[in-house]
Amino acid sequence: MSHPPSKTIYPEQPSDKDGQRNKEGLGELPAAFAPLNLPPPEEYFQRKVALISGITGQDGSYLTEFLLEKGYTVHGIIRRSSSFNTGRLHHLYEDQHERPNKFHLHYGDLTDSTALVFLMARILPTEVYNLGAQSHVKVSFSLAEYTADVDAIGTLRLLDAIRTCGLTKHCRFYQASTSELYGLVQEVPQSETTPFYPRSPYGVAKLYAYWITVNYREAYGMYAVNGILFNHESPRRGRTFVTRKITRAVAEIYEKKQACLWLGNLDAQRDWGHANDYIEGMWLMLQGQGLKPEEPPTDFVLATGETHPVREFVEKAFGVVGIKLAWSGSGLDEEARDVNTGKVVVKIDPQYFRPAEVELLLGNPAKAERMLGWKRKVNFEDLVKEMVEADLTAVRNFVEDQN
Ligand code: NAP
Ligand code: GDD
Repeated sequence: MSHPPSKTIYPEQPSDKDGQRNKEGLGELPAAFAPLNLPPPEEYFQRKVALISGITGQDGSYLTEFLLEKGYTVHGIIRRSSSFNTGRLHHLYEDQHERPNKFHLHYGDLTDSTALVFLMARILPTEVYNLGAQSHVKVSFSLAEYTADVDAIGTLRLLDAIRTCGLTKHCRFYQASTSELYGLVQEVPQSETTPFYPRSPYGVAKLYAYWITVNYREAYGMYAVNGILFNHESPRRGRTFVTRKITRAVAEIYEKKQACLWLGNLDAQRDWGHANDYIEGMWLMLQGQGLKPEEPPTDFVLATGETHPVREFVEKAFGVVGIKLAWSGSGLDEEARDVNTGKVVVKIDPQYFRPAEVELLLGNPAKAERMLGWKRKVNFEDLVKEMVEADLTAVRNFVEDQN
């Protein structure tokens, strides 16, 4: 049986019968090919529907709270895991059989294009927040290829899912970029114009994600922005990041459940803010705040404009429970004793050093303050206090959170 001749016009076909190159066969597919029959953007944007990758993480959970509060329908992508990975969302999630609400979780993965396209087409979001990532810098040296797949190509996959569904003009895209892009810093403080010099497979993967976001904005006129966020912490921070590792250990040591805290580089300096403050900034970036109607979207730094060494975070955290530290030694032999008891409570373990370190991060948030009207609210002291107090409560109540 012979097949009827195909009507498909392939790019390699040189010309149509009139000798004109058939425009439909080259470059962009005609609009009619767009798989979804969507209303014009003005009408479409009346709906407020967010799709969040990385919803189970620290930022994802705060962003979900924030958007639900604003009346959004929130859809989140979660990974299949053999243990529960939704601990940070329990307080928001309702069984849709019993009490339907505007919060929905779907299985997906940034390594699975098909799933991303499927979710995009079904959900038809108005805002996409790409927070999903293998986000641990030290781990990225061990899982370099996987980190590139998720953090770099995962971003491309999500952007392409938007294009594939014909949503380039119907959906705004936030990319979770990072101060790790500055790495070996080329100027102090770092702003949107500071050259990048990433120092880890994580930083390099995020560099690709940064530029592919810019590229899709310029190539396809997408509303796609990078939020270049400096470190932000909270009681929901994962326990392998230094701040939460410290505050949990302080609580355990105070309650006599742990003897000593082992750390790596105490000299590294970070610009630490509160995660909840940074969430509002992400949202503001997608609202066109501060842009004239004809202006393209633009990227923003969110930071506090202050930097502190890890050693200072340690001192402040012990200070919250009234433990004063006395430091002695240097390098691998540096340690800190509890002045009252004489016991060593902080020591150095080189396994926490990194093959290449980012020694200093200090952000300049002036552009976000000027255009978005954004400003951090929580200062360094209050951040440390909130984290230590939350961990004290958790330790006293035997709460073994999975973060
Ligand atoms: P986080 O707590 O580590 O959360 C990362 C999220 O990504 C989790 O929900 C995780 O799921 C998810 N994820 C990991 N691999 C994935 C995959 N293959 N497919 C789909 N989802 C995947 O990170 P965070 O602190 O909330 O940060 C959010 C984003 O901002 C990340 O992209 C991070 O790189 C970036 N960032 C963070 C900071 C900061 O200081 N926090 C600063 C700048 C930029 P599981 O729960 O299943 O692991
Ligand atoms: N994790 C960890 N554990 N870090 C330690 C330790 C330790 O025991 N001891 C010292 N440090 C130092 C690290 O070497 C680093 O210089 C600093 O503490 C902060 O480390 P992390 O808390 O792991 O965060 P990060 O700065 O590497 O990365 C975080 O912030 C980035 C934004 O700048 C992550 O959230 C990234 O995803 C994010 O992009």
